[in-house]
Amino acid sequence: MKISVKAGALEQEKTELLVVNLFEERLPAVENNLDKALQGFVKKVRDKGDFKGEYKQTLLLYPQGGVGAERVLLVGLGKTRELDREKLRAGSATAVRRAKEIGVKTFTFVIPGIGRRDLPMDEKAWAVVEGALLSGYQLTEYKTEDRDKIKEISEVRFLVEKRQDLAAAQRGAKKAETISEAVNWTRTLANYPGNKATPTFLAQEARKLAKEEGLSCRILEKAEMEKLGMGTLLAVAQGSQQPPKFIILEHKPSGRIRGTYAVVGKGITFDSGGISIKPSKSMEEMKYDMCGAAATLGLARVAARLKLPFHLIFLAPATENLPSGTAVKPGDVVRSLSGKTVEIINTDAEGRLILADALAYAQRYKPDGIIDMATLTGAVVVALGHHATGMLGNNDPLKRKVRRAGEECGEKVWELPLWKEHYEQIKSSIADIKNVGNGGGGTITAAAFLGKFVSDVPWVHLDIAGTAWSETGDSWLGKGSTGVGVRLLTRFLLNEMERKK
Ligand code: BES
Ligand code: MN
Ligand code: ZN
Repeated sequence: MKISVKAGALEQEKTELLVVNLFEERLPAVENNLDKALQGFVKKVRDKGDFKGEYKQTLLLYPQGGVGAERVLLVGLGKTRELDREKLRAGSATAVRRAKEIGVKTFTFVIPGIGRRDLPMDEKAWAVVEGALLSGYQLTEYKTEDRDKIKEISEVRFLVEKRQDLAAAQRGAKKAETISEAVNWTRTLANYPGNKATPTFLAQEARKLAKEEGLSCRILEKAEMEKLGMGTLLAVAQGSQQPPKFIILEHKPSGRIRGTYAVVGKGITFDSGGISIKPSKSMEEMKYDMCGAAATLGLARVAARLKLPFHLIFLAPATENLPSGTAVKPGDVVRSLSGKTVEIINTDAEGRLILADALAYAQRYKPDGIIDMATLTGAVVVALGHHATGMLGNNDPLKRKVRRAGEECGEKVWELPLWKEHYEQIKSSIADIKNVGNGGGGTITAAAFLGKFVSDVPWVHLDIAGTAWSETGDSWLGKGSTGVGVRLLTRFLLNEMERKK
């Protein structure tokens, strides 16, 4: 989908489809020109009550002259004072969906001009471009039948009505394009089935990414992991025929560096549960168990493209979790890179095992902060549903910043506590710790396990098991992988960059 931004009068715009956002309040500045051009049509549908401007309401009009557009789609955004970035994203996503239904390949979208200090033009443009690009995404490469029926939007022209808004709108649109491309790439990696997206494939993609974007890349092979003593990662990998890979990408821009962060993503390319095998219902969804790793790679792409002024280390431990004659067994004890010993009670609690070694490795870079992303527990879905990522950690300021980034970018996070009592739950009788907790709070005991491998560096753990993909496609992002985490941590880093200007 090609994106362009220009300034002009909406009534003059020659297009197959003109999309205009309206609000519950009738705003003369927004509606009068259009109404005049449409010979009173807008006022009429308003007076009749057929279009109230409510959020998610749409109305398609076929103008009889007066405007350059063949069709006009009104998209309601609700009350002006309740407008936020998420409604703007959903609004342009609605436009993409309706345009596909209608069968047009291009349309013009008028960025709402309403002035609000908290929503400057660059933020509005950022939001609507993101909504269009992310909702337009689909993985089509496995479809061989009826390929001509696949509906894709080839170009969206974004229009600002005031010339003085153009530069800001273009700035916002550019940023959104860079981020959205990386998010959609992340989604493709995550949507790929387990027989395609193996640890080896992820490592190849990381190498390619590094070459394209000027990052440095190192892949640790099994032998090196053995030499280093990554015993918890290797324990998970030992049941699989696919060799594990430990992916390391580094972004180190020249010029003033405003901090060092390590980002760690869980890369289980298929989670069968291992010997503690999962029930077969929905097991196919466990191809998504590498969404944390995919988001980590996506974020690396954004960091390079936006030349973010941070030293960033991206770590993605990647392996399958399968049962076999060589698989790790419940009751086995292994030694992690940190030296701590772990009693493996349940081989399905494998994410925390591979992250333990990755978190220990991350600390060799002496980062100012570590953020990990992992589809770690089913329990987080019980706690928060699919609406928020679970957040736990050891540092309130860092958590506050991630939470704020989440509110701004639409990838909401919600904090769960992590107390001494939770650390008590994972004590083992024969080793230092065990990989599942007694009692409830599964998301928290998983985080406590990770916390054992983080010394005194600020750390945030994001449990994305409920947000990384959607089976229902309820949100404007549609079905499949959401790429969650890329926008979140991009926003976090951009905010940090502003703060440390
Ligand atoms: N990858 C799963 C978590 C998961 C489950 C994500 C369902 C998304 C949907 C993880 O490896 C896992 O199996 N966790 C177990 C932990 C348990 C054995 C302590 C779980 O959540 O059941
Ligand atoms: Mn598991
Ligand atoms: Zn898992």
